[in-house]
Amino acid sequence: MKTYKRVSTIKKYLASHRRKKQTIGFIPTMGALHEGHVSLAKASIEENDITVVSVFVNPTQFNQTEDLKKYPRNLEKDAAILKEAGVDYLFAPSVNQVYPLSKKTGPKLDIDHLTFSMEGPNRPGHFEGVVQVVHRLVKITNPDLIYMGQKDFQQFTIIQYMLTHLKMRTRLRVCPIIREENGLAMSSRNQRLSKKIKTEASIIYNNLVAAKKALKSKKPDAIERKAMKDLKTGVFDPEYFEIVDGYTFKKITNPNRHKLIVACTAVWAKKVRLIDNMILKGEHLLYPKKKK
Ligand code: PAJ
Repeated sequence: MKTYKRVSTIKKYLASHRRKKQTIGFIPTMGALHEGHVSLAKASIEENDITVVSVFVNPTQFNQTEDLKKYPRNLEKDAAILKEAGVDYLFAPSVNQVYPLSKKTGPKLDIDHLTFSMEGPNRPGHFEGVVQVVHRLVKITNPDLIYMGQKDFQQFTIIQYMLTHLKMRTRLRVCPIIREENGLAMSSRNQRLSKKIKTEASIIYNNLVAAKKALKSKKPDAIERKAMKDLKTGVFDPEYFEIVDGYTFKKITNPNRHKLIVACTAVWAKKVRLIDNMILKGEHLLYPKKKK
């Protein structure tokens, strides 16, 4: 595996692969890699000739400078994980490389219809920052396919909107959530949880599973209310638990009217904010097709 820090260098190498008609898969990350990230790299390795992973803690998507400062960074460890997984290129640029003076702003894209709920109101400017960086990274790497996790449901939906709306040639694949044995979704932030809280955090997954079962017989708003109550334990404090249409994020009243239904939640575990989701009905169109 080769590691590059400069935009001009990675562009040069990827152009040479493109000239040889090799396909390129790309996974944007902020590092502190775990099995969730590795699963995306593996999906890309299986489907493409060349796999590129970026590690870049993007300052424009953090609304609290404290959170940005506290974000775990360990490039050496990340590089070892990616090399072991079989990744071809690690792109680890500096802030100045990604945002030179001439490229300080993001693309013109109105995402209000996808940010009105859930992560949107709670993290103002966050998704604009995500759009800005993924747009920039896709322009640099120009991949055939980009891989993102279902873990960040709203994020991948917004990136899909960006790719289609800006008529970019890159296609998106979405990969399933990788979980700890107790059901806790893997996340770089889990490093900040105590062992005890990590064990108890199965409560989030258990509530998502319960919501899936309950959707057959109970009204969505009653399920949401019960989950909000059950998740408030003293240690855990839910910010939202919403059952929405998986494409529009609008609230559900009659499940029969929707092809894709998802429950999304954000829960505070003391000072750590955890997000998770589960598809309650249907299958997302962006999932790679299963081989028969
Ligand atoms: P990061 O949190 O590092 O996540 C990078 C990718 O890994 C995202 O697509 C995310 O959904 C996926 N991922 C994280 N945890 C996962 C899990 N448990 N199972 C499967 N996939 C998982 O998301 C970001 O970085 C940034 O916002 C980024 C897109 C890189 C833009 O800066």
